[in-house]
Amino acid sequence: MSAPTATAARPTISVTGLVKSFTDPKRGTLNAVNNVSFDVFPGEVFGLLGPNGAGKTTTLRILATLLKPTSGTAVLNGFDIVRDPGRVRQQIGFLSGETGLYARLTPREILSFFGEMNGITGAQLKTRVSETMDRFGITAFADVRTDKLSTGMKQKTAIARTVLHDPPILILDEPTSGLDVPTARTIEQCIVDAKTRGKCIVYSTHVMEEAEYLCDRIAVISDGSLKITGTMQQLREATGKQRLREIFLGLLGME
Ligand SMILES: Nc1ncnc2c1ncn2[C@@H]1O[C@H](COP(=O)(O)OP(=O)(O)OP(=O)(O)O)[C@@H](O)[C@H]1O
Ligand SMILES: [Mg+2]
Repeated sequence: MSAPTATAARPTISVTGLVKSFTDPKRGTLNAVNNVSFDVFPGEVFGLLGPNGAGKTTTLRILATLLKPTSGTAVLNGFDIVRDPGRVRQQIGFLSGETGLYARLTPREILSFFGEMNGITGAQLKTRVSETMDRFGITAFADVRTDKLSTGMKQKTAIARTVLHDPPILILDEPTSGLDVPTARTIEQCIVDAKTRGKCIVYSTHVMEEAEYLCDRIAVISDGSLKITGTMQQLREATGKQRLREIFLGLLGME
């Protein structure tokens, strides 16, 4: 997949000097995100890779306006996460864990409710929900309570909820975690489709082959700081290694 050139369109996401400190009694003050900056362009898939506790979820939660940064900011589709979080939320679909899946509701009810919250109503809502359920293979369990669904069924419902209102920006925290190969494939395909339609996608994963396949650019984060950002080609040139797994381990000091 090709990377944007330096003269390409303006970035859809522009992250500048993001810092998030947490203070807790055991560890004192910890910079979970420490001066992180990057841009993501329209039609680009930007992958955030890092070991457990590196700061991926914290970064993505800040972009989704669920957490306030300690300092720094980000602008998403022209709206600042600190000054205008409400407008930022209208630009994004955010997937993290089982966010937004209410145990007692069915996938059809969840999607309908979420669509309404995003201003889709009447016949349009019914059609959109039904098309989205078909696309993600949800129709067969559309009317089963979410707490009775398997991990993969829940994840398909969660990602359907994330894209239902067709936002310009997708922020996906480990969208394929715990999924079987066919279900992961459905979700990867959804990311490719979104990219083809010019959406801007930031996503985190621990799956190296998936990142190599899906991402236009990759950032490796460790201890809250970005170690490298670039296309696979740029990462190869900078590290002298070929495969992302080797590049990743090398950047973490594990040759
Ligand atoms: N609400 C919180 N209060 C205190 N510390 C937190 C909080 N949220 C996250 N942290 C800490 O911030 C650091 C980064 O956590 P984060 O969840 O962003 O990592 P991650 O890269 O998503 O890891 P994983 O791959 O395990 O999901 C960790 O040290 C974590 O303990
Ligand atoms: Mg995480």
